[in-house]
Amino acid sequence: MKKIVVLISGQGTNLQAIMDACKAGKINAQVAAVISNKADAYGLIRAKNSGIPTAVFERKNYADNSQMDRAISDYIDGIAADLIVLAGYMKILTAGFTRHFAGKILNIHPSLLPKYPGLNTYQKAIEAGDSEHGTTVHFVNEKMDGGAVILQAKVPIFPDDRIEDVEERVKIQELQIYPLVVKWFVDGRLKEAGGKAYLDGQLLAENGYA
Ligand code: GAR
Repeated sequence: MKKIVVLISGQGTNLQAIMDACKAGKINAQVAAVISNKADAYGLIRAKNSGIPTAVFERKNYADNSQMDRAISDYIDGIAADLIVLAGYMKILTAGFTRHFAGKILNIHPSLLPKYPGLNTYQKAIEAGDSEHGTTVHFVNEKMDGGAVILQAKVPIFPDDRIEDVEERVKIQELQIYPLVVKWFVDGRLKEAGGKAYLDGQLLAENGYA
């Protein structure tokens, strides 16, 4: 069975959706380990409740980002993971890490990339007066939120929306699309080549499939 390692920093609702889909047999893989860069991430409790091994790598214990990422990649190599899933992992990975696992790292980002890479996407969308927002699953490369887009989900922004309103709508979509994309990857249907994403051998459009 294929092995997935999930990296988190916080709540772990996306992690939960992926663990649940694996447990239910919807994804033919096991979450082999959950890694966090925050010792108090609630997602670690979710993993423990599901009997999944956890590991914490804190920046303060390493001389620099490269050494920290080297420790994480050694740990993942030890598991022989087939796929690395970033699920709310809020630390930028070094180029050494992303190259080592090229084509095997997925991320979910709460915006319709290439719009709003980085932090505070909800605030940016509301302040810009956008009428829609969304979330993107993409392959991870050296550029932050810059890898090939795979799948996006859109939600409306209504005139009086607060950040929490839009975030709630986006989260509901994330819990649908992330397990689906993980399933595509596990089933061997999704590949990255030359900085582009392919599903069943077909090139996905510049902005993935929205
Ligand atoms: C998700 O909404 C995800 O899109 C976002 O963090 C949240 C994690 O929630 N990721 C990023 O902002 C990455 N730049 P979760 O811990 O409940 O899955």
